[in-house]
Amino acid sequence: MNGTLTSDKLSAYWMPFTANREFKKSPRIITSASGCYFKDDKGRDIYDSLSGLWTCGLGHNNKYINKAITKQLNTLDYAPSFQFSHSYAFDLAERIASLMPHRLDKVFFTNDGSESVDTALKMARAYWRKKGMASKTKYIGRIKGYHGVNFGGVSVGGIVGNRSLYGQGIDSDHLSHTLLKGNEFQKGLPLEGAYLAEELNDLIALHDASNIAAVIIEPVAGSAGVLPPPVGYLEKVREICTKNNILLIFDEVICAFGRMGSYSAAEKFDVTPDIMTTAKQLTNGIIPMGAVISQSEIYDTFMENSGDEGVIEFPHGYTYSASPVACAAAMATLDEIERQGIMERVNNLSPLFEESVHSLKGLPFVNDIRNYGLAAGITLEHKDNTPMKRPYDIAMSMWEKGFYVRFGGDTVQLGVPFITTPKEVDLLVNALGESIENS
Ligand SMILES: Cc1ncc(COP(=O)(O)O)c(C=O)c1O
Repeated sequence: MNGTLTSDKLSAYWMPFTANREFKKSPRIITSASGCYFKDDKGRDIYDSLSGLWTCGLGHNNKYINKAITKQLNTLDYAPSFQFSHSYAFDLAERIASLMPHRLDKVFFTNDGSESVDTALKMARAYWRKKGMASKTKYIGRIKGYHGVNFGGVSVGGIVGNRSLYGQGIDSDHLSHTLLKGNEFQKGLPLEGAYLAEELNDLIALHDASNIAAVIIEPVAGSAGVLPPPVGYLEKVREICTKNNILLIFDEVICAFGRMGSYSAAEKFDVTPDIMTTAKQLTNGIIPMGAVISQSEIYDTFMENSGDEGVIEFPHGYTYSASPVACAAAMATLDEIERQGIMERVNNLSPLFEESVHSLKGLPFVNDIRNYGLAAGITLEHKDNTPMKRPYDIAMSMWEKGFYVRFGGDTVQLGVPFITTPKEVDLLVNALGESIENS
């Protein structure tokens, strides 16, 4: 496929999460990729500072993963997963469970993060029904949370721009976000803010625990600009959920499988949710796949309270759940994570990444910098009273310089590949500094 596009070819494609009119005036077209770099249609190498969309930590065009996918395509290209299956799904589920904290050992496959979130939300409501507590239907999300684009995820999500066009959602309330004044420029976990978890008690007092199915939060919120949890915050949320018989869902679509220097944020922060949602890095972004991992008690509740053995206990699933090719991609990704010692690499690189990103403090327009693992967010002063404008200008200037950089709201976000080098981080941050200064 030739990557060059003439302007008459641009009209049919309605692009997702894109300013279509602006893009089509000056398209940014990627034609190939290898390692930490894209190539664009002008033949330039472009450094991938977000690992795709937080997906390709192992870099692009990984030969081992590609080979595993090709082999699978030539063996079993597709198999139905409703009432029939194939052995790769069971192998992969077992492997994922073995990498998760104790008790998170039942794996339900989806195709992406949004499906994982809506699956987890449905699982939570159905779980309470199976236990005879059908009134527990409300969800508690968090302001600035991002949980994908399906109706459940949008309802519990807290990014206004992603909600405002769609009217009434699913019954949800929201905790405050944890972006506190006074915590600016803290490295890693902010020290202040655990008390914000106490708001959950207020929401429980308002709605009553008998009406609440689950709390869903990202341990480190990604799309809102990388918000690591204040020290002690996740522990407190866990404690309140347990005390009030409310399920806790960690949305680890960005966090899981390496970005935090661990297989899960739950492991890193030593706080275990009842259900965890994952996707993205599970297949290194190559084939769509997500996984919802639940505690066995949840699975057992479905098994024990669904009547006759012939009854489908959880009437939910996707045509492509556990597709053999996605399973092969995930298995090969997990092999590569292990073979390349990715957790150690991420943990070794993270302090340098942290120092480097925080060196931008003091530049004009930089209002805050946050980081954890290989994720960082930089909040920028609004330009022309428009929050998105400066990050957009910076990202465009970076693209000109040969760097793909994510911009969203009033932030620029970095999620460098796990395999990147200190030199590349240096080049990225230097270029970003220049673009910020000139914005
Ligand atoms: C925390 C979180 N949940 C859910 C999603 C949605 O994932 P997807 O775009 O694969 O549907 C994302 C995507 O960025 C995410 O960051």
